[in-house]
Amino acid sequence: MLKQVVRLLMAALFVSIPYAAAAAERLPDPVKAWNNHFKTWAVVSIVVYLVVTVPLIYFVFKYKRRKKDENGAYIEGNTALEILWTIVPMIIIIMLGVQSWAVFNDLRDVPKDHIEVKAVGFMYGFEMYSPEGIMTLNELRVPVGNIKVNLSSKDVIHDFALPAFRTREDMVPGENTYLWFSAKEPGEYPVYCAEFCGSGHSSMLAKVIVMKKEDYEAWVKSKQAASSTTAALTPDVKGKELVEKLGCLGCHGIAGETKAGPALNGLIGKSEELEDGKKVVIDEAFVMEKIADPKAKPVKGFSHIMPPNALAKEDYEAIAAYLKTIK
Ligand code: CUA
Repeated sequence: MLKQVVRLLMAALFVSIPYAAAAAERLPDPVKAWNNHFKTWAVVSIVVYLVVTVPLIYFVFKYKRRKKDENGAYIEGNTALEILWTIVPMIIIIMLGVQSWAVFNDLRDVPKDHIEVKAVGFMYGFEMYSPEGIMTLNELRVPVGNIKVNLSSKDVIHDFALPAFRTREDMVPGENTYLWFSAKEPGEYPVYCAEFCGSGHSSMLAKVIVMKKEDYEAWVKSKQAASSTTAALTPDVKGKELVEKLGCLGCHGIAGETKAGPALNGLIGKSEELEDGKKVVIDEAFVMEKIADPKAKPVKGFSHIMPPNALAKEDYEAIAAYLKTIK
């Protein structure tokens, strides 16, 4: 009710130009609402700046002291002017406030017809979950429509930013946050982390893939069919899937590159020095222990930020089997 009243007020006031049509309702497109909001503020700011600055510069020259003993006129005040320059800015500020409030509400209130997905931030990547529970790494697939994204984090504060949809929200460990956006056109849209979260922050890049409804349904079916055959996979193929699914590749390369963690190829068989000076040769048992408890036996030269993973025994073995195959 309050929202409707404010919206009507807003339409009646100067924001009526871009928003009259949407008077008592939610703005039809949050991207347009945000763009209009930005333009309104930009125009008002520029006008206020010019109204203040241009006369200021003009008066500096016009009323410059020309003779040494010259005195300015003594002016007591002007009640009409005082009222004018109090009331006019006040009205402008109220209007901007009302408009901001309406846009803010539209960005926070999720429309009733929406689908719900989940994104979990970690150092360094995003796990995305479809409503069917399909996990994808750094790639959120959605059908056309309104999408609510529930957000959380496994470690530190990240920020799920969707510039194309003019929205972003922090991912806070131990807290559930959300944002929503309206996916209108099929296509790919960038996602990035907008909160400095560590050395791999700039590699936290992902994408939203908006698909036609039937394409999305076909994708879900193919994913579900693939996961029902996972049990029959050989350990190394299953290990590869796990490494991709668990988000390991956010911090580990598989082409010899050192990211936040060591490259995974050629890892088994390598000799490393531990922080306590001991030398180890990395074998399957060492890898399995590290996945379960990354802080145990810290290897020199790395920050030990990897979260522990509680997996089934055959999953540890599958990952070790996969690592043996990549040289
Ligand atoms: Cu995650 Cu920056």
